[in-house]
Amino acid sequence: MHVAPMNKIIIIPGSSRKESFNRRLAASVAKVLEAQGAAATVVNLADYPMPIFDEDWETENGAPKEAKALASLIGEHDGVVFVTPEYNATLPPILKNAMDWLSRDVGLKVYQDRVFALAACSPGGLGGIRVLSHIRDVMVSVGADVITPQIAVGQAHTAFNPDHTLTNERSAGMLERMCAVLIKRIQTSKAA
Ligand SMILES: Cc1cc2nc3c(=O)[nH]c(=O)nc-3n(C[C@H](O)[C@H](O)[C@H](O)COP(=O)(O)O)c2cc1C
Repeated sequence: MHVAPMNKIIIIPGSSRKESFNRRLAASVAKVLEAQGAAATVVNLADYPMPIFDEDWETENGAPKEAKALASLIGEHDGVVFVTPEYNATLPPILKNAMDWLSRDVGLKVYQDRVFALAACSPGGLGGIRVLSHIRDVMVSVGADVITPQIAVGQAHTAFNPDHTLTNERSAGMLERMCAVLIKRIQTSKAA
């Protein structure tokens, strides 16, 4: 009997704050992906501290070992979900900095050969919808394959049940669909 290899998806929250809502949303994404048959890994960018990107620093040192380590871990996965806060309508520096380092010489082409999805969470009503279009622009500029379904979870203080499910049915449905499309796209690109 042929058993298809499990699809492996890494989830990267753009906040390492202890009580981060985006880390909570990352746990929700992982739960749904696993329920849909994928293997999910959630990382914490605090475990990969990188200097603020500087070309002189890069010329002297190359990419930081933490960027190479994160790239190597991403390389073991078929898909990536960025789960990001919105800071002043755009990307938080910890995530943008990591994304810039990952676009450099880190041992593999992080933004090729895998499929990406985007999610955001905010205490505000719009859930960080503006950062999603900014991060999508960045992803397009590095040539990444990003699926169209995405999710912005607002009212973060009341958005999560203790078991990591989402309290809002519509958001829960959007999350299910985003995960299903991500897995399907991974399968399609693996078959190609
Ligand atoms: C510098 C800064 C700028 C922010 N700008 C926005 C914003 O543009 N839109 C928004 O919805 N929330 C904004 N917030 C509030 C964040 O959504 C909130 O702090 C959120 O909890 C951060 O995500 P986290 O809980 O995952 O750490 C901002 C917060 C900070 C610190």
